[in-house]
Amino acid sequence: MLASVSDRRLIAGGQVVTASSVFRADVLVADGLIVAVGRELDAAGAELIDATGCYVLPGAIDAHTHVSMPAGPVVTVDDYDTATAAAAMGGTTTIIDFVIQRPGQGVAEALSGWRAKLDACPLWVDVGFHFACVDLGVPGALEELAMLPEQGISSFKLFMAYSGTLMVSDRTMLEVMRVAAASGVLVLVHCENGDVVDHLVAGALARGDVSPVWHARTRPPVAETEATGRAIALAAVVGAALYIVHVSCQGALAAVTAARAAGQAVLAETCPQYLRFTESDLDRDGFEGARYVCSPPLRSAADQEALWRALAAGGLDAVNSDHCPFRLADQKTLGRHDFSLIPNGVSGVEERVMLLYDLGVRTGRISLSRWVELVATAPARIFGLAPRKGSVVPGADADLVVFDPARPRKLSASSQRSAADHSLYEGVEVAGSPSWVLLRGEPVVADGMFVGDAPRGEWVARARVGEGSTRVRLTT
Ligand code: URP
Ligand code: ZN
Ligand code: ZN
Repeated sequence: MLASVSDRRLIAGGQVVTASSVFRADVLVADGLIVAVGRELDAAGAELIDATGCYVLPGAIDAHTHVSMPAGPVVTVDDYDTATAAAAMGGTTTIIDFVIQRPGQGVAEALSGWRAKLDACPLWVDVGFHFACVDLGVPGALEELAMLPEQGISSFKLFMAYSGTLMVSDRTMLEVMRVAAASGVLVLVHCENGDVVDHLVAGALARGDVSPVWHARTRPPVAETEATGRAIALAAVVGAALYIVHVSCQGALAAVTAARAAGQAVLAETCPQYLRFTESDLDRDGFEGARYVCSPPLRSAADQEALWRALAAGGLDAVNSDHCPFRLADQKTLGRHDFSLIPNGVSGVEERVMLLYDLGVRTGRISLSRWVELVATAPARIFGLAPRKGSVVPGADADLVVFDPARPRKLSASSQRSAADHSLYEGVEVAGSPSWVLLRGEPVVADGMFVGDAPRGEWVARARVGEGSTRVRLTT
C-alpha cells in the first residue's frame, strides 16, 4: 500500500511499453501529469510504486461502450458508476460512450439527457461521448450536429441495422457524412444490412427456428460485407473519414483493405468476443447461447484467424469492447421462445486489455507494443485524445497501468465490477492483470484492489479528426 498521501509518485523498476518500443524506465508523476520517464530520476518526496517484473502502459482507452443504453423494453445494466469501475479494474482509464438520439428527439436534448445520466454517477475513469444520429427529420438536426465538435464531440455514429429503432437510410448516411466531412468529424458505422437481416429473421421464425443460434444464421457475413462496402462507397461520395465498428468477418475486412489500398480514409476495429468465441457458442445447450448474442454475431474460426492476421499486420486499427451488458435472468430471457427478442450485446470493458494480452501477446500473435497500440495509443489518436492520453510521455495525463504478467485473475460474474449477472468469460483464468491503475496520477486500483475513496473521472472533450487534444498541458 502507499506509505503516505502525495501527488508525486514514482513508478519504479518496470518495463515501459509504448506503441513503438519496450524499455526499462521509471515514470515520475506529479500534479496529475507525467513529469519524466527515465532512469535515476530526481524523485525526492515521491511515493514509490514498485513495478518490478511488470509492464508500465498508458491507461487504455475503450472507444466503444454502451452505458445505460435503452434497447427495446430493457436498458443495459451498467450505469456510469459500475461501467467506469469495471473499466478501471481492467486497466482502462477512458471510455468513449454512445449518446443515442431517439426518433423525434433533438440533438441537444439527446445530449443533455445522456449528460444527466453521467452527472448522476461517480466516475472512476474519464468518459467521452460519440453521438449516434437516428433521425434527421427533427428541425435543425444537421446544424446542431455541425456544432458538436465545438462541444468536444468529434465522432458521429450511424446504424445500418436495427430497423424500426436505430437503422438509417442511405440518404441520411450521406447527409450526416457530408456534415461530418465539413466539420472534421469521424463517422462510425455499424455495418449490417438491416433489410437482409429482417428478411432472414422472418423466414426463420415462420419455420419455427427460434433458438439463439438462429441469431447468427440470420445475420450472415454477406449482410455485414455488403453494408461495409456500401458505407465505404457512401463515405467516398462525400469525402468523409470512416471508422467501421466491430468488424467480425473476412468479407468486411476485405472491403476495408481494398478501400485503404485505394487511398480512402477508412479505419476499423474489432472486439475481444470475435477473437475468443465462434458461432458454435450460440448453439450451446438450452438457452445458454443467448449469453453470446451480439451483433454482428460470432463467426467462424477462419474469420477469427483473419482478424488476428489483420491485427498483427495493421489491417485493423483498434480493439474496443462494445461493452453492452444485459442480465441473463430477466433481460436475455425475453427471447427464450424467439431469438430475435434477445437483447443484443455482451460485456467486455473490464476484460478487454487482459484478454488481448492473453490471447494475443502470450500466444505470439501480436507484440507487446502492438497490444498497447491497439488498446490505448491508437484509440487515443483516432478519437482526438492524443497527445493528452494514450502515451507514456512527459506532459500527458498520468493515466497509467502497472500490468503484472504474473498476476493471474480468474474472470467471473461474482468478482466483476459490472452489474451484469453473468460473464462470458466465467472461470477463465488470464495470466496477467493490472496491479496498479492511476488516473491523473491517483490510484484507482492499488495492488490489484479497487480504491473506492474518491471518484476522479471527468467528462472529456475530444479534438476533431487530425487535430491534437486541445487540453494537453505541458510542464516545464
Ligand atoms: O450487439 C451489440 N453489438 N450491441 C450493442 C449495439 C451495437 O450494435 O453496437
Ligand atoms: Zn453495433
Ligand atoms: Zn456497439
